[in-house]
Amino acid sequence: MDETVSRTAASAAAPAIEVRDLSIGYGDRIVLHDLNFRIEPGQIVTILGGSGCGKSTLLKHIIGLHAPLKGDILINGRSIVHANEEQKRSIMSEFGVAYQGGALFRSLSLAENIALPMEELTTWSRKDIKKRVSEKLALVHLDGYESYMPSDLSGGMIKRAAFARALALDPKLLFFDEPSAGLDPLTSDMLDNVILEIREKTGATIMMVTHELPSIFRVSDRVIMLSAETKSIVDDGSPAWLRDHGATDYVRSFLSRGGTFLSSTTESGAPDGVHAP
Ligand SMILES: Nc1ncnc2c1ncn2[C@@H]1O[C@H](COP(=O)(O)OP(=O)(O)OP(=O)(O)O)[C@@H](O)[C@H]1O
Ligand SMILES: [Mg+2]
Repeated sequence: MDETVSRTAASAAAPAIEVRDLSIGYGDRIVLHDLNFRIEPGQIVTILGGSGCGKSTLLKHIIGLHAPLKGDILINGRSIVHANEEQKRSIMSEFGVAYQGGALFRSLSLAENIALPMEELTTWSRKDIKKRVSEKLALVHLDGYESYMPSDLSGGMIKRAAFARALALDPKLLFFDEPSAGLDPLTSDMLDNVILEIREKTGATIMMVTHELPSIFRVSDRVIMLSAETKSIVDDGSPAWLRDHGATDYVRSFLSRGGTFLSSTTESGAPDGVHAP
């Protein structure tokens, strides 16, 4: 399909992500089947579910690393499944990914790590890149750390640096894999604030995979819950809705494990269009 035509066809009102009749797996093995959902621009959505249910597999398919067994995935109205290599590169340039563990280059400074996608994928001048790197670092409260090497950074700083690199090309769509896993509660809190600030300042749509319930209640507008048993979506709604009115005991107990912080959440309804009670 011609690039101009496909861009025109992708209307301004297109969902940030649309998944249609999607079945995914490895070889003959189906991990998840017949998934359907749309994520509207500006939403923060968490993919949740027990270990091995296919959260990472789903994320990897949505960002175009794997081809599905069946169905389609549209990013800002354009199919990443049916795109040719050039179109796929163009679609991929519209989103940023912060991988679990940061995946920074150890031999490059923090500034060089964040500059890398700008140098490889844009024609921005050196001066412009330097300015943008500082802006991205400021967004994750790492300004002043430009010359630090990844080995000099704490776990929380590495995660924030990975966010900054995901933001390098000003994407309107971000994917975060386990952003707060393995961090102490205060650092996790700070990371939650950074995620909310990123959304506020950039208006980005954010899809993340996490098990951290406090983070989910703090930042997620919506949770899409997967089940390894049925290999499909078991529920979809705001965290408080799933906790209080989830479709099954499993959903309600998954969202309410872990104690008192949950009872301090007063929100109880679902955001518009997310869950029909
Ligand atoms: N590259 C692969 N080849 C074959 N099977 C895989 C591959 N990656 C994952 N799987 C299998 O697919 C299923 C889903 O795995 P996935 O990593 O997506 O789960 P997850 O929900 O992310 O789990 P966790 O919470 O433990 O990270 C698992 O049974 C896993 O063993
Ligand atoms: Mg995983």
